Amino acid sequence: MSTKVLMVCLGNICRSPLAEGVFRHLAEGQNFMVDSAGTANYHTGAAPDHRSIAVAAKNGIDISNQKARQLTYNDIEVFDHILVMDEQNLLNTIALCTSKDQRKKIELLTAASGHNATHVPDPYYGDEQNFDAVFNLVCACCENWLAKQEE
Ligand code: 4NP
Repeated sequence: MSTKVLMVCLGNICRSPLAEGVFRHLAEGQNFMVDSAGTANYHTGAAPDHRSIAVAAKNGIDISNQKARQLTYNDIEVFDHILVMDEQNLLNTIALCTSKDQRKKIELLTAASGHNATHVPDPYYGDEQNFDAVFNLVCACCENWLAKQEE
């Protein structure tokens, strides 16, 4: 059975779609399944933000087919690892848990940043530079996270 990884942000249109795309790219050929979701339902059914699609595309990753969805309790049960972009969304994800075993699956993606980042900053009101920074940070975190699984 594959290890199931869920990336979580607020809207599931900027950060977690990038994290999903980057993780899938890096883990290709390994036994992982990856998905993403948002704690909010504002953008349910929407494609990723065009700026996330663009930064992924210029790095050779196509995320244009993703569709936003809201995080559910079922996700907490089904996924093995739930990697969250920031503290507020971490709290909202933890709030869905009904057991200590579920709580143990949830961590900040930046726990694996390797360079003291505390969260993946929300780029929604930002510009291309902010999306580049999110892409680079998410890449570093996913690389380190995958390397840790092999230890
Ligand atoms: P995300 O970014 O959580 O990385 O997808 C956001 C997307 C939408 C909003 C905020 C952040 N919003 O307020 O609609």
